[in-house]
This record gives sequence, structure tokens and C-alpha cells, in this order.
Amino acid sequence: MTTATPTGDEVLQAVGVLAANLPDEDILARLANEFFHMLPGEASGVSVADAPVTPPSALPTDLAPPRLAPAAVTPTGVPDYLATSAPASDGRVGGFALGVPEVYAAALPSVDAAPVPVPTSPYYFIGEASAYQPPAGTPSADRVTAQPFTLPGAGDFSTLLAGIDLGYARDPQAAAPTAAASPDPRFYFLETGGPTVLHSAHPPFDVHAVRRDFPILAERVHGRPLVWFDNAATTQKPQAVIDRLAWFYAHENSNIHRAAHELAARATDAYEGARAKVARFLGAASAQEIVFVRGATEGVNLVAQTFGRQHIGAGDEIVVSLLEHHANIVPWQQIAAEKGARLRVIPVDDSGQLLLDEYSKLLSDRTKLVAITQVSNALGTVTPVSEVVQLAHRVGARVLVDGAQAVSHMRVNVQALDADFYVFSGHKVFGPTGIGAVYGKQALLDSLPPWQGGGNMIADVTFERTLYQPAPARFEAGTGNIADAVGLGAALDYLERIGLENVARYEHHLLSYATLGIQTVPGLRLIGTAREKASVLSFVLAGYSTEEVGHALNEEGIAVRSGHHCAQPILRRFGLEATVRASLAFYNTCAEVDHMVAVLRTLVRGRR
Ligand code: ALA
Repeated sequence: MTTATPTGDEVLQAVGVLAANLPDEDILARLANEFFHMLPGEASGVSVADAPVTPPSALPTDLAPPRLAPAAVTPTGVPDYLATSAPASDGRVGGFALGVPEVYAAALPSVDAAPVPVPTSPYYFIGEASAYQPPAGTPSADRVTAQPFTLPGAGDFSTLLAGIDLGYARDPQAAAPTAAASPDPRFYFLETGGPTVLHSAHPPFDVHAVRRDFPILAERVHGRPLVWFDNAATTQKPQAVIDRLAWFYAHENSNIHRAAHELAARATDAYEGARAKVARFLGAASAQEIVFVRGATEGVNLVAQTFGRQHIGAGDEIVVSLLEHHANIVPWQQIAAEKGARLRVIPVDDSGQLLLDEYSKLLSDRTKLVAITQVSNALGTVTPVSEVVQLAHRVGARVLVDGAQAVSHMRVNVQALDADFYVFSGHKVFGPTGIGAVYGKQALLDSLPPWQGGGNMIADVTFERTLYQPAPARFEAGTGNIADAVGLGAALDYLERIGLENVARYEHHLLSYATLGIQTVPGLRLIGTAREKASVLSFVLAGYSTEEVGHALNEEGIAVRSGHHCAQPILRRFGLEATVRASLAFYNTCAEVDHMVAVLRTLVRGRR
């Protein structure tokens, strides 16, 4: 069976039609129909355009819940209706689409995918690092997803999206053209030096299967299916993480490193195994370079209180960017005030991207540390950290990269980046709260003083003096968050099974789709339009407070964050104190985006 690939002219024509005017739901639905009609494979006879589109003239006040006929029972007993029925009303933009890749794939001839081996043990969540092996003869179960799901023609789809100019204003009252306008959006995730999608060893991505792994996505809020668009605040947890935590407490719980009994050995193996997983996930040279902390905030504070105290003095400078989260500003202000050092700030352009030229001018032999985010939590900007690191190293400065918002979206390799320190939080990468990690180059970590004293971090104690352990134990005083470290290891295993390259590719499509859709809302101003962005949409709506918008979305089951996002300086750069932020993850779909766009359009229409 052959697939019909749209010509460039057809794509541009469709985009032109879309861009021309989108005054109401009927036209939106018809244009969306045309849009998807053009997808390659439409000629296959499995036409998505055949779906009847009879949009209501306004969004129903009581959105019809999807039919909840479970198509399959998940291992948790949670019916997977979210993955099998469209969670919204008729007449939405692309209302027949459950997500970009899947609607595309539905119109394509099926292709036999090579079976990809997945763990079949009921103890799949333990991972290879556990010393404890389940007893022989235990029945097997398969809770691991990301089953083969071939997406032929993904390149065509990328081409289709790549032809869309995201900077146009479809409505005179909608967002003004932005600096993001680019006929050739760059795929930041293909530029990180990692393997490309085409050569990925991972199975192709299936958002339906992925959603079944997250029991909370079956939750209903105000009678509506939950739409979790607050992933920058925290991510949801797959069953593998939930199971791993339960397993730890049921079978392994003990303090670590200290006892001569079996459970201490199991817990120690699980905890140190998780450290090795974090090291592998970040591309660190060794597990000894990974320190467990509560999260990215504690990680930055650890570096400020160790490296900062030892290396920053009067007259020295610390460089941060205007994009930083308060967690990567306040600890540096505190150390600067204590030491008589000065904070310098890298400005950004109108799209929310760093001005590298201005950054270069800030660097001098006074610069001791550059603390920079890899992805802005408020805008989604992906910063050029590699260049930032290189330029800093030229003047002898060390670099801390805040990866809190990056690790769930793209593959990170701290050695390729040559970062001196890298911090992230487990709960933002599908792991538990209260656990995170600091990566530091081994020699650097070993040269730093401890920051907290207590058990576990010492080699020998007398009343006259204390000898400390080398890193990482030196920085882990007291009993750590053992179970959640193990849960984090399970989250990283899970993400690796899905494949970061698959996640990045899917999210790129989702962001393109959402950016297009959200700009059809009259009066909406998108804040943060850099060419390289993670899947974050920060916006304000003329005539509405961000709280009002957040409330309206919440009423429809859609969770976003409204406020300053703990990043007041960057919002003030755009003349704002608050935005509404929809932050998407790889389990979100285009149907959910449609739902949000429809609610926003209805909100605006109600006040006209
Ligand atoms: N840092 C988190 C956010 O951006 C809490 O929402």
C-alpha cells in the first residue's frame, strides 16, 4: 500500500488556509479536518477526514464525558479508557485526533514492527542493580509498555509541521508575530550529540501505551478527565515507580551501609544501584560523581555552600541568567552577600533566549562561577549551555547547570557538556518527590569541604578532629531518602525504556501543534518564543487575570500553573507579574491541547 505525501505547495496552502482566519469553532473544525486530510496516507482509505464533524456552535457547558468502556484492564486494575476514547467533546480543533503521531499513524497502512523485548518479570521495576532476585517459579506479568508501534513517515509529518510558521497572528487580537517565526524549526534534541531518532535503539513511541503506565491519568477532576499540564511543577509517576517504592518497603527496607544483615545489604544495593542509574542517565564518568539531595534547590545550595564558600571571595563575580528560577538566584545572592562578591546577569532577547554576546562581555578573570539553567521553567527556552560552558571555561570559571526542567525532555550528557556541576530533581523526571541529584566532576567534588556534618559522611571521629569520606558520602550526612532514591532509579529505567529521543521527538510535535492552536485564541499573548524550546506554553489572556484563566481551565479538569513560577525576574522582563503556564509531557496528547484551546476560546467568547 502506498502513502500519499503532500507536496510542499499543498502543505503551504493548508498552512495558509489555517493562518488566514479562525473566527469560530465551526471553521476551526473544518480547517482542522482539511489539515489532517492532507496527511500522507489519507489515500489509503483509512481517512481521518471521513469522521463526521458536527461541532456545536459553542462548547457545551457540560462537556460530554467520554464513553468509559474499558478496552483493556491494566495490571493495576485501572481501565484504560483514557487511552481508548477521546477525552473531550465533538467539534474541537482536530477533535478526531487523539494526538499528533497517533492520528497520523492511524491513517497509514499498518507495518509489522519487529517485536521489541520487554521485561516480563513481575519484578521488572527492580532493575538490574538489585542484589535481591525474586524466587524462582514466580508467575510473570508484563507491566512494561512502549510496545512496538511503528510510525512510518514521521519524517513527512515533521516536514509538514516544519513548514508551519508559528509566528503569525491569525486573529488581529491574538499574539503579535514573534521572533520565533522560523520556516525551519530546529530539533534541539537532535543537536545534543546523542543518537538520532532514526538510529535509536529504542522502540518507537506509543502515547496510548505510555498513558496506561500512569494510573493518575485516569483520574477525573470536576467530572472531567484529568488533563495534566503542570509538568514543569511536577510530573506524574508511572506504575513502575509506584511498584518499586512499595517493593522497597515490603522487602528491602533498612538503613544503608551500616549493618551486617540481609536487609541492609538489599537496601544498600538498591540505593547504590540507583546512584549508578543516575550516573548513567546523566552520562557521568562514575557513580562517585553523583550526590543524592532533596532536589535541584538543595543541589544548588550544596554547591553554593561548598564550592561557593571555598572559591568565591570579595570582588569576585557570579554570573546567572535572567531566566533563572529563584532556586538558582537566591543561594548565589546569599553567598555573594556573605563574601562581598557580585552577581552579574545575562540578559535575554524578546523571544526569551540568552544574548550570548552580552554574556561574553560579562566574563572576566573575576568570574568564579556561572550558574545557568538548561531549560527555563517559566518560558521553556532551551539555552545554549554548551557554549555557555565553553566561554566560562575560557576565563577559568566553573559552571553549574540547573537541569531541573531539562532532564524530562532531552538526553543530557554532562561530559559532553563539560559541566562542572549539574543538578536536577527526581519529581520532575517521573520519580518521587524529596530526591534529586548533584553531579560534580570527581576531582572537584573531592576537593570541596562538606556542607553538613553527621553520620555517614565521616571516615573517623575523635573529639579533636574528624576525617571525612570522599565524595559522594562526604555530602550525604545522616540517613538519606533511601526509598525515593530507589524510586528515582526506577523512573530513570522507565524513561530509558521509552527512550529520550522518542520523548523529545514526540514533544516537539506536540509543542508545534499546541503553539499553533493556542495562538488561535483571541487576545492571547505567548511569552517565550525562542527557536529552541521545551514543551512549555506560558501566556496571558487580555482582559483576564491569570487566576481566572487557571480557574476556568481547572473547572474543565485541566491543570496548569498560574503565577510567577518562582521566576519573577524573567516575567518582569516581559512586563508581567504572572502568566498561565501549560507545561506538557510525553503522556499528553493533541486532544488535550484541543480541549484547552476550546476552553480558552469559549472563555474569551463569553466576555465579548
Ligand atoms: N519549579 C517548579 C515550577 O516551575 C515548582 O513550577
